[in-house]
Amino acid sequence: MSNPERLIIFDTTLRDGEQSPGASMTREEKLRIAKALEKMRVDVIEAGFPIASTGDFDAVRAVAEAVSDSTVCGLARALEADIDRAGEALRGANSGRIHTFIATSPIHMQQKLRMAPDKVVEQAVWAVRHARNYTDDVEFSAEDAGRSDPEFLCRIFEAVIDAGATTINVPDTVGYAMPAQFGETIRQLMERIPNAHKAVFSVHCHNDLGLAVANSLSAVKNGARQVECTINGLGERAGNASLEEVVMAVRTRPDYFACDTALDATQIVPSSRLVSSITGFPVQPNKAIVGANAFAHESGIHQDGVLKSRETYEIMRAEDVGWSHNRMVMGKHSGRNAFRTRMQELDILFNSEEELNDVFRRFKELADKKHEIFDDDLRALVTDAGFRAEHERIKLISLKVCSETGETPHAGVVIAVDGEERSATALGGGPVDASFKAIESIIGSRVRLQLYSVNAITSGTDAQGEVTVRLEREGRIVNGQGADTDIVIASAKAYINAHNKLAQAPERAHPQQGDV
Ligand code: KIV
Ligand code: ZN
Repeated sequence: MSNPERLIIFDTTLRDGEQSPGASMTREEKLRIAKALEKMRVDVIEAGFPIASTGDFDAVRAVAEAVSDSTVCGLARALEADIDRAGEALRGANSGRIHTFIATSPIHMQQKLRMAPDKVVEQAVWAVRHARNYTDDVEFSAEDAGRSDPEFLCRIFEAVIDAGATTINVPDTVGYAMPAQFGETIRQLMERIPNAHKAVFSVHCHNDLGLAVANSLSAVKNGARQVECTINGLGERAGNASLEEVVMAVRTRPDYFACDTALDATQIVPSSRLVSSITGFPVQPNKAIVGANAFAHESGIHQDGVLKSRETYEIMRAEDVGWSHNRMVMGKHSGRNAFRTRMQELDILFNSEEELNDVFRRFKELADKKHEIFDDDLRALVTDAGFRAEHERIKLISLKVCSETGETPHAGVVIAVDGEERSATALGGGPVDASFKAIESIIGSRVRLQLYSVNAITSGTDAQGEVTVRLEREGRIVNGQGADTDIVIASAKAYINAHNKLAQAPERAHPQQGDV
């Protein structure tokens, strides 16, 4: 396709992605992901919901100040306080967008908002006008548009475009839409709304029926020119449309789509790894584009075909989406300068020389145990619980486990709680279970373990295991991570990391719960 139109990629990993259970991120973590998204040439980065908490506000502000090539967006309900907070958080942005929304489906208007449709239109128009006091780049979303009356959507969208909205977003909030039907809705809206040409039409699809990408692509085929998506398809419940799948579908099929993105696709795999290690959401091996098996050919017939001609079984090249980026970079003889340079290339920045020295020391320890160190090992060094652990309440001092055929495994653990060393032993169904029980007997935290998963960061039996532990207490959910060549130690680190996060997790508002 010559001169394809531009498809705007709006990434919401830092906002909707963060609404996944336990995926909340610190300011530093958001900054690292935002820099990776900017490097990938994402058009719009939705950095958070500034009114949710002081931490969220600070994170959006920090991203707005750090990113210059992408537009930085803040979410706001159609409320004065939300919009003011978003406007303030985005003040330092080179290019800032306010994304305001209100629900439009009968069920949401009646049950959640308890507002009449006329009042919803009035509030939406007021919100867009108010947001325009801060920026010319205002996006309006009709929450639950997938279940809204198309007539009502036409009415509210026409009104908000008149009020100054420059992007009109059609979210399938609950993942209810079907591809052909959703595409048709977009086409009809764009045809029927008289001022539709003054705004970019966008979609935001959830994956409850596994159709988020299909629905997004159908919308693109029918005229949408912005897709809201997340790295690895992270997001509320079953997640959002996955950025990598949308981008590569459009790029691989220029014969079908009349548009393309500005994305540097070689940054896809590194970004996927980064998001996975920060949030603790592993990528399934058979996940399209970024799964470990996405480009692995196992059957002899396939391998033979690929060796003779790549196109036989490959529609994309692994290196085009960044698979070659996980380079073997270092070994035990690598020096501090080489280490610092590679960390900079990976956008891993240190707050001080002490921090760099600490991670370099742990890199050396790892290099003693593991012959080859890959980029993913380096990333794990900083997402691992040990990094910046000096401020944490609970620290792992030592762990000893005994596991023997025919015997009940037992663990002896020493941890420091608020600087005071305490020890305990426990029996368990396995060494990890025994370790968790020993730690729990010291902390007495009454948590519920919701998820435990182990992932090998690289290949080989000396690979580091990256463990995610999800804990819940009184409705609050956190993910803890730990990495180590010994997976029992990695598990204990992850368990302690989750406990530390539970102790810190601040109260924050959820954008889609509450009054407006
Ligand atoms: O799913 C949704 O409707 C949202 C809106 C806030 C855009 O995330
Ligand atoms: Zn959403």
